[in-house]
Amino acid sequence: MQRLAVNRRLELRLLQGHDAPLLAAVVAAHRDHLRRWLPWAEVSTTVADSLAFIEAALDRHGRREAWEAGVWSDGMLVGMAGYNELDWAHGRGVLGYWLVADEQGRGTMTRCCGALLDHGFSAWGLQRAEIRCAPANERSRAVALRLGFAAAGRLSQAEWLQDRYEDHEVYGLLATQWQARRPARPHP
Ligand SMILES: CC(C)(COP(=O)(O)OP(=O)(O)OC[C@H]1O[C@@H](n2cnc3c(N)ncnc32)[C@H](O)[C@@H]1OP(=O)(O)O)[C@@H](O)C(=O)NCCC(=O)NCCS
Repeated sequence: MQRLAVNRRLELRLLQGHDAPLLAAVVAAHRDHLRRWLPWAEVSTTVADSLAFIEAALDRHGRREAWEAGVWSDGMLVGMAGYNELDWAHGRGVLGYWLVADEQGRGTMTRCCGALLDHGFSAWGLQRAEIRCAPANERSRAVALRLGFAAAGRLSQAEWLQDRYEDHEVYGLLATQWQARRPARPHP
């Protein structure tokens, strides 16, 4: 799958090599916002770094290990969202995401993850989705809770972030839980 439509404004579309200068510029413009929770934002500083990331993501997609896409809003790259891990043996997908600072507060990521969950549970037959985030990352946790995920436990010192280890809170959602909630989801 190359793209996933979210609504009239939003689509998820795989980044290609020619998107590397754009991705690098977006990350550079929003580095202070992103590096608070995303360690790669500190060290991905050049177009070559962005190209290496895009090529690695396309490799993971080719091996069906992940599906990590750009978030395009009216044709502008405003973030990324997708499944950072896909475990087909156990029907499990781990969602990951980020948005540029000025795209926050519009429901963009909740809608993108809703489309990813619809597709993952229905078309791909996943049984379980997970989101992992630092306990203090309130915006990320809010995305998970808004979608109906439930806290499933904490991993101590799961990630090195600039100058400290952060725990990860694991949030889980089953296909049956998502399907039961579908009518209550926000309309696109
Ligand atoms: C995590 C992140 C993607 C969340 O972004 P967000 O804008 O808070 O989440 P959404 O796009 O779903 O928007 C939700 C907001 O839009 C509002 N909203 C408006 N219309 C909405 C709708 N139809 N549906 C849902 N929310 C809606 C919500 O009330 C909420 O507002 P609030 O900011 O006042 O609480 C963003 O903060 C980010 O990129 N952070 C840095 C990177 C990061 O931490 N990534 C995750 C690592 S685990």
